[in-house]
Amino acid sequence: MSVSKELIKMREKYVARGVFNTALQFVSRAKNAIIEDVDGNKLIDFTSGIAVQNSGHSNDLITQRVKEQLEKYTHVCFHVIMYEPYVMLAKKLAEITPEGLEKSMFANSGAEAVENAIKIARAYTGKRGIITFENAFHGRTFMAMTLTSSIQPYKKGFSPFMSDVIRLPFAYCYRCPIKKSYPECGIECLEFIERAFVTYISADDTAAIITEPIQGEGGFIIPPKDYLQEMRKIAEENNVLFIADEVQTGFGRTGKTFCIENYEIIPDLMTVAKAFGGGFPLSGVIGKSEIMDAPEIGGIGGTYGGNPISCVAALAAIEILQEKRLADRARQIEKITMERFEEFKEKYVIVGDVRGMGAMNAIELVKDRERKTPEKVKTGEIIRECINNGLLILKAGIYGNVIRLLPPLTIEEEILIQGLDILEGAIKKFN
Ligand SMILES: Cc1ncc(COP(=O)(O)O)c(C=O)c1O
Repeated sequence: MSVSKELIKMREKYVARGVFNTALQFVSRAKNAIIEDVDGNKLIDFTSGIAVQNSGHSNDLITQRVKEQLEKYTHVCFHVIMYEPYVMLAKKLAEITPEGLEKSMFANSGAEAVENAIKIARAYTGKRGIITFENAFHGRTFMAMTLTSSIQPYKKGFSPFMSDVIRLPFAYCYRCPIKKSYPECGIECLEFIERAFVTYISADDTAAIITEPIQGEGGFIIPPKDYLQEMRKIAEENNVLFIADEVQTGFGRTGKTFCIENYEIIPDLMTVAKAFGGGFPLSGVIGKSEIMDAPEIGGIGGTYGGNPISCVAALAAIEILQEKRLADRARQIEKITMERFEEFKEKYVIVGDVRGMGAMNAIELVKDRERKTPEKVKTGEIIRECINNGLLILKAGIYGNVIRLLPPLTIEEEILIQGLDILEGAIKKFN
């Protein structure tokens, strides 16, 4: 029996069912965009551990900095005694985020960053309402899960949820909520927000609008530029904070350091995680100083938040992002990938839509192009076929019918092309 199979038996016996797995394999080592399993099989990685390893697996600089920090001290807790990497990272984050975002707090996961952003927004505004969107994903803790859209599997069996959260349709242009086409629609779907202030909760009672600049788990849904810009304006005009959740889109992934820069928007608060920690658990909220300073002393934080190992890894990851110009690499990945995706769309009827920004590219699979019936079953089969042929890849989408690509930004061009060839072979088989 293979080592993986033995470990799977143990996993089934001792690990809870609800913790999902994409590949039924166990990793032994990983370098840049290649993962090797315990049985010696090699996989091209188009997932980056879900948008984390932007600078590639086992990056030498990150490894070196972490080793150095391990020799000095590991955990002391920033609330007990302070340490330099936390403060240096807060300074660095202020330098690389859009102007006006100055102060940070650090936590461990994306969901925790979202929780904290909502707490900060409520403390600052003294208001309760939060506007979120269909297809959104903001995490699995209670407020984050409430903000998350998809019921199955993220919310099933976990109710009741948090109060004062209003969910509105989002500009998912391939499946337009008002059945129009962009740009002729005049982004009429924004009226949902204005109407919500009349029919659901008054703007005087609304603390924040939270959105991902590109909806990630929801299916890599890329809203038009003017849609997000107008949304930001509506927030400002109504004294409602605008929170950009950059957990999946940040740190070069979409061709800019932060996705929101593609939209030329400055949010009031921004959440970061995933690639932020360079492979170590770390998240943060950054915002305008007066907003970030609203909670009482002791009101935000946590034992492990911004632990020193993660902070030095994050500083190294930012150094790599800047020195290796990873955002530009993301644009090159977009060019190669989207050219292939356009070909796939011409050749295979199962491909309903292709979309992407930087190294965040997706294919939406449908049973028929006219009615756009989601093709969930074959999406799963294509993903399994890719894994069997040496390509690790993820699905997304509220209907589970989107294949998403999140390769390390450092992936070698020939490895990227090899991966795209495997993906094409799988699509062709199930077309
Ligand atoms: C946009 C966004 N926000 C929040 C989260 C939650 O992050 P975590 O899984 O680290 O809690 C995710 C995770 O996929 C995400 O994509």
